[in-house]
Amino acid sequence: MAGNILLLTLLAISVPLKMTVAYEPSPLQDFCVADTTSPANTSNRFGSSPTPVTVAQVPGLNTLGVSMARIDYAPGGIVPPHLHPRATEILTVAEGTLDVGFVTSNPENRLISKVLQKGDVFVFPVGLVHYMRNVGPIPAVSISGLSSQNPGLITVPGAVFGSNPEMPADFLAKSFQVDQKVVDYLQNIF
Ligand SMILES: *[C@@H]1O[C@H](CO)[C@@H](O)[C@H](O)[C@H]1NC(C)=O
Repeated sequence: MAGNILLLTLLAISVPLKMTVAYEPSPLQDFCVADTTSPANTSNRFGSSPTPVTVAQVPGLNTLGVSMARIDYAPGGIVPPHLHPRATEILTVAEGTLDVGFVTSNPENRLISKVLQKGDVFVFPVGLVHYMRNVGPIPAVSISGLSSQNPGLITVPGAVFGSNPEMPADFLAKSFQVDQKVVDYLQNIF
């Protein structure tokens, strides 16, 4: 077990990506209105925007056991704690600086985390709670490969405080050892 954890830590290696240098040509018009259907809009409460490429978007992935995801992050943007029940995820940073981590099972609940620079790689083992956050001054982009065409997504805040119907607030208050007002507040948000 300890050996596995060590191995996973060692997987946070640096992989140089091919460098491309380019710049915008002179504009051919006075202005260009943004395409507001672009998926990379990070103006939301988490400051991040996922673009999944699973069997739901690409039916040809069916039965093939792979999928991808791109995530755009505003400075300070996060992907809250979540897990994929059916896939291990391997992530590389395409732009910026990300703090990423996952937590091992009970009873250790050990956090294994690392600050990744552009080109670095990290792996989130199947079923473990993990997170990403942009700790750099510029927008960040990550690209992930996942070992299922249908990895599934369980967000911790959404599952716990945003279930439908809601779990009883007094039960959650006792579970998290907080005042029920805190639970009411969180259930309102999620
Ligand atoms: C981005 O999303 C926010 C919140 O949904 C919205 O108000 C805003 O108009 C969007 N911006 C663009 C450029 O699409």
